Amino acid sequence: MASKNYNVVAFKVVLHCICLAVANSSDLSYPAVFNFGDSNSDTGDLAAGLGFQLIQPYGQSYFNASSTGRFCNGRLIVDFLMDAMHMPFLNAYMDSIGLPNFQKGCNFAAAGSTILAATAASLCPFSFGIQVSQFIRFKARVLELLAAGQKYKKYVPAEDYFNKGLYMLDIGQNDLAGAFYSKTLDQVLASIPNILLEFETGIKNIAKFGVDSSKLDEQGCVSSHNQAAKTFNLQLQALCTKLHGQYPDANVTYVDIFTIKSNLISNYSNYGFQQPIMVCCGYGGPPLNYDERVTCGSTKSLNGTIVTAKSCNDSSVYVSWDGTHYTEAANQYVASQILTGKYSYPSFSGKMLIPSLAQVTTTESQSM
Ligand SMILES: *[C@@H]1O[C@H](CO)[C@@H](O)[C@H](O)[C@H]1NC(C)=O
Ligand SMILES: *[C@@H]1O[C@H](CO)[C@@H](O)[C@H](O)[C@H]1NC(C)=O
Ligand SMILES: *[C@@H]1O[C@H](CO)[C@@H](O)[C@H](O)[C@H]1NC(C)=O
Ligand SMILES: *[C@@H]1O[C@H](CO)[C@@H](O)[C@H](O)[C@H]1NC(C)=O
Ligand SMILES: *[C@@H]1O[C@H](CO)[C@@H](O)[C@H](O)[C@H]1NC(C)=O
Repeated sequence: MASKNYNVVAFKVVLHCICLAVANSSDLSYPAVFNFGDSNSDTGDLAAGLGFQLIQPYGQSYFNASSTGRFCNGRLIVDFLMDAMHMPFLNAYMDSIGLPNFQKGCNFAAAGSTILAATAASLCPFSFGIQVSQFIRFKARVLELLAAGQKYKKYVPAEDYFNKGLYMLDIGQNDLAGAFYSKTLDQVLASIPNILLEFETGIKNIAKFGVDSSKLDEQGCVSSHNQAAKTFNLQLQALCTKLHGQYPDANVTYVDIFTIKSNLISNYSNYGFQQPIMVCCGYGGPPLNYDERVTCGSTKSLNGTIVTAKSCNDSSVYVSWDGTHYTEAANQYVASQILTGKYSYPSFSGKMLIPSLAQVTTTESQSM
């Protein structure tokens, strides 16, 4: 088909996190965005796919009655990025309710997902390979519908959007975090090449179809997890460089979210936060306000006492929302740093983005 240009952004994340992808174009102007990942960027896929509702206080800072399946009090990084590109929030692939529109793209990210294939014990069956298969089916189905007539045009991407679109990936954190339950640090480090091999296979499938047509460190974080994350991210960066060489028409960008997040947690007060590690919506009080038995929004009986994990009063000064996921305020900060282009390899100019970022900030302060 026409142009072979497409754009893959691989963000690297962690502390909890890992590999996401953003674009290399100087104006960040794309007709459509296709996103793959875990809860960091799930806009309702797992909730739709497994059939559950995330109840308040999830969503309370932005989406009012419901978080629409986002594991956050408000918007995710991907929402802020879409906003900065003047595009609507991405609909989840599996969400069929309310006339979802996929013209500007589709979000395949599902909370709890891993790069490695899911097992019977996995929280989420929609691992990266499944998400890629869903994308391949999505594209085939879209082309069928477009061939069938004009009436679907306003609901699905045009054919050339697959070539010209932005492909974002933010996944891997669950592969590492999950592995620590049963493996030593050395074993986890040894498993990273396998995880990335699986990731590479998935990316190449996207590329093909896009183109054809517990020790705590000084931050209070578990240092072994962060060491694994850093190793993963180094190898991921090497993979992005390799893919860049193999697919010269694709712009593969690696975004260093680990550095953005560790800077946020270390230097939180510079960015307007007061609580770098204490959980906003949890139970147990300081220092962590986190009890895995009483998760955000739930009510449990502990020793005969009924307790509820409620939201803090001012989530905008907390980094952690529920002990696993970041608050909307932290997501907004991370998105703003991604948009500077300084954490991307190769880097892109953030010039065009500053005005839209200001708009994002305004929306945020109004809604909180
Ligand atoms: C890919 O990057 C090159 C060089 O930075 C740029 O000229 C081109 O427009 C980019 N392609 C897309 C589709 O963004
Ligand atoms: C949430 O509700 C308020 C007040 O009703 C409204 O102004 C705001 O637009 C709503 N936000 C969303 C995202 O629906
Ligand atoms: C915190 O800020 C200082 C001063 O700007 C900087 O040198 C340091 O690298 C930051 N910490 C992290 C973890 O980025
Ligand atoms: C319940 O009892 C255990 C053991 O006596 C104690 O450690 C824990 O703090 C108690 N929890 C609550 C919520 O009172
Ligand atoms: C929130 O503020 C109210 C009223 O100021 C106070 O009673 C309550 O304890 C606060 N809740 C939390 C979790 O800080």
